[in-house]
Amino acid sequence: MNKQQKKVPTSTVKRLLSYIGHYKLRFIFVLICILVSALTSVAASLYLQTLIDSYITPLLLEANPVFDKLLKSVVSMGCIYLIGILATLLYNRIMVSIAQGVLKEIRDTMFAHMQTLPIKYFDTHTHGDIMSHYTNDTDTLRQMISQSVPQVFSSLITVVSVFFAMLSVNIWLTLVVIIFVTFILKITKFIASKSSTFFIRQQRSIGNMNGYIEEMINGQKVIKVFCHEEAAKNTFDEKNENLCSDATSANMFANILMPVMMNLGNLQYVCVAIIGGIMAINGVSGLTLGAIASFLQLTKSFNQPISQISQQLNAVIMALAGAERIFKLMDETSETDDGFVTLVNARYIDGKLEETDHRTGIWAWKCPQKDGAATYTELKGDVRFHDVDFGYNENKIVLHNITLYAEPGEKVAFVGATGAGKTTITNLINRFYDLADGKITYDGININNIRKDDLRRSLGIVLQDVNLFTGTVMDNIRYGNLEALDEECIAAAKLANADGFIRRLPQGYDTVLSGDGSGLSQGQRQLISIARAAVGDPPVMILDEATSSIDTRTEAIVQKGMDRLMLGRTVFVIAHRLSTVQNSDVIMVLEQGRIIERGPHKDLIAQKGKYYQLYTGAFELE
Ligand SMILES: Nc1ncnc2c1ncn2[C@@H]1O[C@H](COP(=O)(O)OP(=O)(O)OP(=O)(O)O)[C@@H](O)[C@H]1O
Ligand SMILES: [Mg+2]
Repeated sequence: MNKQQKKVPTSTVKRLLSYIGHYKLRFIFVLICILVSALTSVAASLYLQTLIDSYITPLLLEANPVFDKLLKSVVSMGCIYLIGILATLLYNRIMVSIAQGVLKEIRDTMFAHMQTLPIKYFDTHTHGDIMSHYTNDTDTLRQMISQSVPQVFSSLITVVSVFFAMLSVNIWLTLVVIIFVTFILKITKFIASKSSTFFIRQQRSIGNMNGYIEEMINGQKVIKVFCHEEAAKNTFDEKNENLCSDATSANMFANILMPVMMNLGNLQYVCVAIIGGIMAINGVSGLTLGAIASFLQLTKSFNQPISQISQQLNAVIMALAGAERIFKLMDETSETDDGFVTLVNARYIDGKLEETDHRTGIWAWKCPQKDGAATYTELKGDVRFHDVDFGYNENKIVLHNITLYAEPGEKVAFVGATGAGKTTITNLINRFYDLADGKITYDGININNIRKDDLRRSLGIVLQDVNLFTGTVMDNIRYGNLEALDEECIAAAKLANADGFIRRLPQGYDTVLSGDGSGLSQGQRQLISIARAAVGDPPVMILDEATSSIDTRTEAIVQKGMDRLMLGRTVFVIAHRLSTVQNSDVIMVLEQGRIIERGPHKDLIAQKGKYYQLYTGAFELE
């Protein structure tokens, strides 16, 4: 278990390094600058010895001091510091740009990967938590790359070079420093290990809280309607309290680190001064006034980087926790697609179907053969379910033994109580989820063999929950087929009977929608989503409660449009209204994931079964 825990950060670090590796040259330059900056600081400390012993002490002893040489050496020392400062400035600036570049790439990769994730991922993660990968986790990474990484490198180089410089001045005094430092490191390690657990918890709490906030923003209206403000506030307080206590614990340990280190450092400084003084008085060779001053300066620049490393350790731990979350998202298994059958434009030549590269209005499934040739099957819209079982998770099967067929041009309706499995059936046709058992064929081809993109392109789908995107009404309709011309979009809107209300909008088709089309009524949003599905001119249409928010009069009009839309297409329609369903070729009555009745409206009514019960009660006057 422990081994496993240790393993994760190393692989995270390696992965992070591989991103930084894309900026190899710049990073090498940064390392050189860090080296220059660290070495100049050591050189300046060492130079202090020469300055004091060779220029200042003689001056004090001489009767007629000459300041020439002193001035020169002070200027040289100033120059050394200046070079150090310039190098520091330079590497800090470059690191900022490297950090931003790395973050951009990580965000890009993360977003691209997110697009490939199956719907299941979004079912099981809160949106706010996913969001915080892009905000909070990347920000801790930015801090680490632009600040902690250069500081840790610079500190390491300084520590090593100062160590050798100290050795060159006096071995015994160096030994005293080493004893102190070992002690300091032990304390640091203890405190850092305490705080790291809390930093990881803090990161998790932030994600958790973001998820909650996102949910509460989306559900504002519901919260108000049910007067849940107080309860929402209380739950938020609880989550906020968790975050606060995790962050406090993490930072408390992090914050005691500094003062503890400072005091120990001061103690060490005094000890070295006293021991050095005693040694000098006792005439230990080479230990001049200048040497002691220089050594004291060195011990200072020895402790500082060590305390910096320990301080940065927290930032690094926090960033690695963030990076781990980011990489976890990147490692989520993508929606697999082993489909090899593709959708191509086709035409008939001498009664034989052939592929062509321009739009002909005829589409064909292209199935590559082992010998390199391909067979073509015309896209007709023949959908069949063969004994399909399905569950959103393995232990709860939602659909049982679903067998059905829809021939091209047929309208199949699903009715049934809420939760019966109607939406689930349509989710399977477009392969949002994979089947547990059985198979679905489309024009005789198992849909598992069809490339998902092509399968979905051949379907026009109006989902139960309408989602519109920021952009004009025209853009939103064109979402259904990016190649559609304006006229085609307008024609689709007319077909869905959305044209009338769109023209009454302030800027007509150019009206900009924002916030999921919040300026529109529910019914208007549905009409736009019908137009969006229609614009692709697909052979199969799936309409899930497409007219549920439209008033009955408009529905009658939309129905006419939809009948036109449905002409010659295979249509799966889910509706609670009898009027939408009754002219279907076949109606499937679902109950708890099973088809319990099937047949045309008249037959089902005559059967006086579930369908009769479902609808005669509510629609007796129809
Ligand atoms: N994403 C999901 N994860 C787990 N279970 C789900 C998920 N979506 C639906 N279910 C379950 O599957 C069953 C069928 O749901 P489905 O959405 O197909 O019902 P429906 O017939 O479309 O109902 P409605 O008329 O209310 O739209 C329900 O019991 C539901 O709890
Ligand atoms: Mg549904």
